Amino acid sequence: MELTKLMPPFRLKNLELRNRIVMAPMLSRLCDPDGIVSQKLIDYYAERAKGGVGLIIVEYCYIDEKESKANQGQLGVYEDQLIAGLGDLAEAIQQWGAKAILQICHAGRCTSAKYMGRQPIAPSAMPSYTGEMAREMTLGEVEAIIESFSEAARRAKTAGFDGVELHGTHGYLLAQFLSPYTNRRTDAYGRDRGLFALQTLDRVRTKVGNDYLVGYRISGDEFIEGGISLSEAKAFAKRLEASGIDYIHVSAGIIETGQHFVVPMYFPKGYLLHLAEGIKSAVSVPVMAVGAIHDPALAEEALQKNRADLIAMGRALIADPELPNKVKYGRFEDIRTCLRCNEGCSSRVRQFKTQRCAVNAEVGRERQMRIHPVSKAKYVCIIGGGPAGMEAARVLALRRHRVTLVEKEKELGGLLRYAAVPAFKTELKSFLKYLKIQVEKLGVEILLDQRATPEFVKELNPESIILASGSTLRAPDIPGIGKPFVATCLELLSGQFKAGERVVVAGGAAMGCEVAAHLASQGKKVTLVEMLAELATDLEMRSRLALLQLLKEKGVKTLTNWKLEKIEKGYVLLIDRDWKKQEMATDSVVLALGLTSNQELLRPLRENFQEVYVIGDCLEPRKVYHAIHEGAFAGRAI
Ligand SMILES: Cc1cc2nc3c(=O)[nH]c(=O)nc-3n(C[C@H](O)[C@H](O)[C@H](O)COP(=O)(O)OP(=O)(O)OC[C@H]3O[C@@H](n4cnc5c(N)ncnc54)[C@H](O)[C@@H]3O)c2cc1C
Ligand SMILES: Cc1cc2nc3c(=O)[nH]c(=O)nc-3n(C[C@H](O)[C@H](O)[C@H](O)COP(=O)(O)O)c2cc1C
Ligand code: SF4
Repeated sequence: MELTKLMPPFRLKNLELRNRIVMAPMLSRLCDPDGIVSQKLIDYYAERAKGGVGLIIVEYCYIDEKESKANQGQLGVYEDQLIAGLGDLAEAIQQWGAKAILQICHAGRCTSAKYMGRQPIAPSAMPSYTGEMAREMTLGEVEAIIESFSEAARRAKTAGFDGVELHGTHGYLLAQFLSPYTNRRTDAYGRDRGLFALQTLDRVRTKVGNDYLVGYRISGDEFIEGGISLSEAKAFAKRLEASGIDYIHVSAGIIETGQHFVVPMYFPKGYLLHLAEGIKSAVSVPVMAVGAIHDPALAEEALQKNRADLIAMGRALIADPELPNKVKYGRFEDIRTCLRCNEGCSSRVRQFKTQRCAVNAEVGRERQMRIHPVSKAKYVCIIGGGPAGMEAARVLALRRHRVTLVEKEKELGGLLRYAAVPAFKTELKSFLKYLKIQVEKLGVEILLDQRATPEFVKELNPESIILASGSTLRAPDIPGIGKPFVATCLELLSGQFKAGERVVVAGGAAMGCEVAAHLASQGKKVTLVEMLAELATDLEMRSRLALLQLLKEKGVKTLTNWKLEKIEKGYVLLIDRDWKKQEMATDSVVLALGLTSNQELLRPLRENFQEVYVIGDCLEPRKVYHAIHEGAFAGRAI
């Protein structure tokens, strides 16, 4: 598809954007204490501006030193002393040709007394997601916060930002006032739930003037009973337009329904596009769409079909800051695809850690992780062509080392070849393709269908070795496991094994749940058996909720607290913690019972070579995040 809409410049009020790709605001936790801009934060944003994005909306900032702070490690715009650092940040973005907007926010009930030492406040008394009770705001506080928003906007303008965005989504204060779910006031701010936002916009205007860009981020749907729906969001968007808003950015959800805005891989691409389209049908100011629109072709199609005017990408630009330039120059195969796994970004920041990324080890430490070519190249042998081995090879080759990658299978990819099979894992498939293309392009010597043995490696005579031999599925000792209608999930996913109509999947970690959803998508009657009380506990919270919803939608029957005891022809025997037994009729059994590391080469290699690095699942079975990060570090250590 020719990208005739996405890449040409776009006029947003007084700003000429070099293209229509916008970086969505995302908490990074990279600032210094008290919300002060740090060098790490500047490096992170500069990297993304350099990558060619048209506009960056800098992560949400708190606007006063009272109750507005939503999170530890949040950036601040609450006093004039912060202007200098914010100015450096805006400049760093603009120097690379992108425009910069600052998102300003009051947490309302979505915070904790721990952050500011004060009880959270909200339109109405209500507990926060932390379980702490927020108290109802007085009219005096309402007025003070409107003033704080306007002062924050003034500081952003003084610092040199090209505009501000009012954070009116995800259940923070502006959204709390608008939503019937959180606003139960009986005064003017309850009778007209849009009043607070409109007064805030009005006051911001008086401080920054009519020529300055002011946008609003709205929830097109809060995905909660009693919350904002699209029809109400449309009505409010019209009021924003009448009050002089310059663009509307359409996200969704409240913090408790976060899986609907930080859209996990189990929900479709372009998940929220219909909401942007709905808002666009109601207003004539530019509308920005967001939410799993990472594929340039999908972004272009949305623009061509007039469903939105601008496309905001969040995690896609964490994973690959250079995505816009790669699109511009037609280097689509070089795009490092975001997996929508939330492992490094959303999950980590919710645990009070800095933002990272499963597929990009540089995130948040751009300076430290910059790749420097070596002055004296070494010869390195990598054993295992999974993600860990390929990432190490990629980095080593970029640093101009000579690399041989040895893989015992006929193809590169390791476990990702199987992991990427279900239809909802297309991003994983693209990421695997990206890794393969990179190692090929960079001239890594790839030996396929070649099992590495200590003797073979000795013959190669490398100066350094990286052992990335991964893991294999555990085969537990269950009676009947060898029967022909029983297979591992890898045999199933590789197509070697064809399941019958009724399938029992044993193992309810993410792997088993995904296999169950995959089989159910093919019309099979699937029962998922897990000995623990919960499913998919190895996933971060938002992905887990989405996967459980998918299992439900696909009609997978789930049995927790039951263990596979025995397999017989036509049925399995299950047992629970109280030794209660039940038989379950089935045609096939698929096992997804965990992985074990392939470490048999470790000792002989250590005995014969001085420099041996062990990375990825070979160290301990985990995830892509660990494989990539350990590959990235080993590649830099040599
Ligand atoms: C069904 C399934 C779904 C998954 N889904 C996800 C997911 O959605 N997200 C996620 O983060 N993780 C997922 N994982 C886990 C993820 O695939 C692994 O953590 C990751 O692949 C580990 O990478 P690795 O390179 O360390 O090892 P591997 O991917 O196991 O690769 C090791 C490679 O080494 C080769 N090898 C082994 N011994 C030798 C030898 N002697 N000589 C030459 N080659 C050798 C193997 O053939 C293999 O290709 C999933 C795993 C499975 C099984
Ligand atoms: C780590 C992380 C932090 C986020 N922080 C913010 C934020 O500060 N303000 C905001 O409005 N949305 C925030 N979001 C939501 C994103 O702006 C975006 O709407 C969401 O990630 C979906 O877009 P994507 O699929 O392109 O990533 C955050 C998302 C992530 C992953
Ligand atoms: S951690 Fe996962 S979801 Fe987050 S940006 Fe990286 S690949 Fe995407």
